[in-house]
Amino acid sequence: MNEFYKKNIISVRNLDKQKLELIFDATDKIIDMSQDKRREIARGKTLGYLFFEPSTRTRLSFESAIALLGGTSLGIADATSSSIHKGETLGDTVKVISSYCDVLVLRHSLDGSSRFAAEISNKPVINAGSGTEEHPTQTIQDLYTIKKEKKKIDGLKIGIAGDLKYGRTVYSLLYGLRNYDVDLHLISPESLRIRSDSTYDIKKELSYTESSNIDEYIEDLDVLYVTRIQKERFPDEEEYAKVKGSYVIGSDMVKKMKDDAIILHPLPRIDEISADVDNTKQAKYFEQAEYGKYTRAALLGLILNENGF
Ligand code: NCD
Repeated sequence: MNEFYKKNIISVRNLDKQKLELIFDATDKIIDMSQDKRREIARGKTLGYLFFEPSTRTRLSFESAIALLGGTSLGIADATSSSIHKGETLGDTVKVISSYCDVLVLRHSLDGSSRFAAEISNKPVINAGSGTEEHPTQTIQDLYTIKKEKKKIDGLKIGIAGDLKYGRTVYSLLYGLRNYDVDLHLISPESLRIRSDSTYDIKKELSYTESSNIDEYIEDLDVLYVTRIQKERFPDEEEYAKVKGSYVIGSDMVKKMKDDAIILHPLPRIDEISADVDNTKQAKYFEQAEYGKYTRAALLGLILNENGF
């Protein structure tokens, strides 16, 4: 039996190197497979989704992934148009939707929401973003992109820049990177440094520098991972106003980067990477978004098939 069969995907903390590599290998397999073969993988299966926060890529890549595998999808993309708006609880909603599907994808503004849903659901739950906490399938996609574009993860000099305090993709990525031997630099305004309560227990496995000056590292990085300032998660508008636009990656800065460095971003981007960077050879964020469809297809294929595919 493959170890992802009927398993929840709640946190990258549960994904060791061997499990991550299994998903990467499955992703390569999906990419190389004929469309006819892919359609057998989830034929007759349904993906359910519940998105309590806005989403473009995550929801649509899950929908396109299950379609690629011959399955179907149903769900709620906008909580205001569902019974949640009438006051139905998350627990009741999860219970009902899980009876209509084979795997359930959830995004919610509360930390712990996916873990809670997994306790209630009788189908496997995939966390597609839980508050400021985690976004595991984004990390699978991020690490896969690094592996594809740089041919390795071990040995790389990686900078993560932006809103490290509220960005959930950052935490999942850190938990993922602890499985690899990387030279890690965290770059953010002072007030947006990572939450030490969410990382204290991985400090033994992962060392990093913290700085607010990207210029210190830009020339040496192999990977620059940029994140959006998470406006909606700031408890105080003024706190946001202080850091808004505090760093922007422009083509001038990219010129200082190594020729074969890559720039990633989970997207959506607001103003932290200027549009003129898009045409540089380092810009890989749109490729990264595309890989998300295949990594999610691989994960779904493993969760839905006892013997893999
Ligand atoms: C991210 C998220 O929802 O955390 N978006 C995504 O899924 N690619 C990043 C973000 O919103 O900034």
